[in-house]
Amino acid sequence: MVNVFKLGYAEFGTKDISALTNYYSEVMGFTLIEQADNGKSYLSSGVDHHNIVVTPSDSSQLNKIGWQIGGELSLKEVSQQLKEHGISSELKTDAEPGISQLLELQDPGGTILNLYSDIKTPAPGFKESGIVPNKLGHIAIGVKNAKQTVDFYKQVLGFWETDKIGDIATFLTCNSDHHTLNVLQSKSTIMHHIAFELRSFEHHKDSSDKLAKQKIPVLWGPSRHTAGHNIAAYHHDPDQHYIELFSDLDVYIPELDCMDPRPWHETLPLKPRVWEELSYWGTNFDQDLIGIVMKEEETIK
Ligand SMILES: [Fe+2]
Repeated sequence: MVNVFKLGYAEFGTKDISALTNYYSEVMGFTLIEQADNGKSYLSSGVDHHNIVVTPSDSSQLNKIGWQIGGELSLKEVSQQLKEHGISSELKTDAEPGISQLLELQDPGGTILNLYSDIKTPAPGFKESGIVPNKLGHIAIGVKNAKQTVDFYKQVLGFWETDKIGDIATFLTCNSDHHTLNVLQSKSTIMHHIAFELRSFEHHKDSSDKLAKQKIPVLWGPSRHTAGHNIAAYHHDPDQHYIELFSDLDVYIPELDCMDPRPWHETLPLKPRVWEELSYWGTNFDQDLIGIVMKEEETIK
């Protein structure tokens, strides 16, 4: 099986390259590593050559997700394994700066993925201005065929399923983070949100103050989620994508198929389960986060 172990990067197409690049550089506190001749900006949260890529486009959308893989398999062997599951992929050389070889493929839900073993680590370190999250934590995608897409991530790319919210959202991980990917049943292929890990509740306060200085309102939270128990707050980037800042995410132990115990867990040990609500604290959402992908009458608090 393919051994995906890290969410590496997300590439966004945007109509306003300077606004989105400026948001990630000045507001989020990523380091601008390079701007290519084709207008693409490559930004790093601290170690990798890039964790966010911003590229000019006629519309604003998530273009692709990069996943780092380990294990014994070469990219050619990974390509062969994908083929055996009916997934075609293309081996690309020097397609992205900092990555000598990658495999490009489309998951069953229609999201383009890059799989790669190595990325250059110029290690610019953490910036001293802006929000400066620890890392890119997870991405939530909405797809028309959630079950088929979830099966692909579990059966082909080796993800574990850690929780569900109703029959709407499935939480998946490729490492000890409770989730590195959410797959939501949706009317179309969309990115629901992208999330960055903060260090503490104090960091949430500092981040909200920094967003306020930039006139970016916090749309919901901070409040503790049920699935993952992360303390989360959401705002919009300049392209109106939902950006989640989170801390305190559950740690998943695959060997035990449970979460590392925490005092706020409802049962001990806490196993993957189905949740009915989004907020453990009962906080109402100022914005209908789930309604984006659901019928109105199915809205969850
Ligand atoms: Fe999230």
